Amino acid sequence: MPRPIIIDTDPGQDDAVAILMALASPELEVVGITTVAGNVPQPLVTENALRLVELAGRPDVPVYAGARRPLLRPLVTAEEVHGPTGLDGADLPPPRTAPADGHAVDFIVEACRRAEGEGITLCPIGPLTNLALALVKEPDIVEGIREIVVMGGASFEGGNTTPPAEFNIYVDPHAAHVVFTSGVPITLMPLDVTHRALVVPDQLERIRGLGTRVGDAVAGMLDYYERHDVEKYGIEGAPLHDPCVIAYLLEPAIFTGKACHVAVETSSELTMGTTVVDWWGVGGGTPNAVVMRDVDADEFFELVIDRLARLG
Ligand code: BDR
Ligand code: CA
Repeated sequence: MPRPIIIDTDPGQDDAVAILMALASPELEVVGITTVAGNVPQPLVTENALRLVELAGRPDVPVYAGARRPLLRPLVTAEEVHGPTGLDGADLPPPRTAPADGHAVDFIVEACRRAEGEGITLCPIGPLTNLALALVKEPDIVEGIREIVVMGGASFEGGNTTPPAEFNIYVDPHAAHVVFTSGVPITLMPLDVTHRALVVPDQLERIRGLGTRVGDAVAGMLDYYERHDVEKYGIEGAPLHDPCVIAYLLEPAIFTGKACHVAVETSSELTMGTTVVDWWGVGGGTPNAVVMRDVDADEFFELVIDRLARLG
């Protein structure tokens, strides 16, 4: 039985690769995609998600539009990374399909309530606003959630948006607080691990060399997206942050980390949105997340390209 997942996303070129990988993977059943304002505002993130399910040849996967802004703070976006459309470099046509009826938060609630067996896995790869709203609206949904695998936060690596904070958590720290105190099992992919999951030039050429529509679109997107990080960090290629979440579901053994207590800073403006990871267990808090710290980068890329190659 494929593992049922919901991808909560703000596409975003790295979100795009995560979505495409998931849609190409028979081990996973993407029951829906929910969108959240983040890298770019609504309705752009929703249009981008619709473009991506069409690119993957999966317009049957419903896309639900979600939160338009964070819970308390004004929306901060990242056009400097992702371009004004959020998916610059892909050159995808406008979507032919429409978003599904209903709000993303209600879809998440219903999907958790309907979940059978071990429950549903939630895969947030943008700000955590929709998940927090669902958990606040109907707290009993925790019963139906198997695990939340989050791309967000930073510990040893430092932040990418402020000195200590990573973008997804910084944009909606109050939502992140709700999720990290929900009691649901959490696996966290912070910058510590995603900054090791780079697409270097030879690998980018292998993606381009797939010679498919998906390969061309992904190569175009990553070409655009890497320019920012290569300059910012002096690294060889773009970090594939969000695909780490999907790669973890497919091949957990390529990641290493440990169970820690994680708290989110929500009061100090200086450190707003910092994930305070108690890596050494000195704070006395009960671990609430498995925090990843490293990935086998070669295995990770082989998995990415294998899945992208399965799409036309
Ligand atoms: C995260 O922020 C976004 O810009 C990316 O899509 C990723 O989810 C990395 O900090
Ligand atoms: Ca994202």
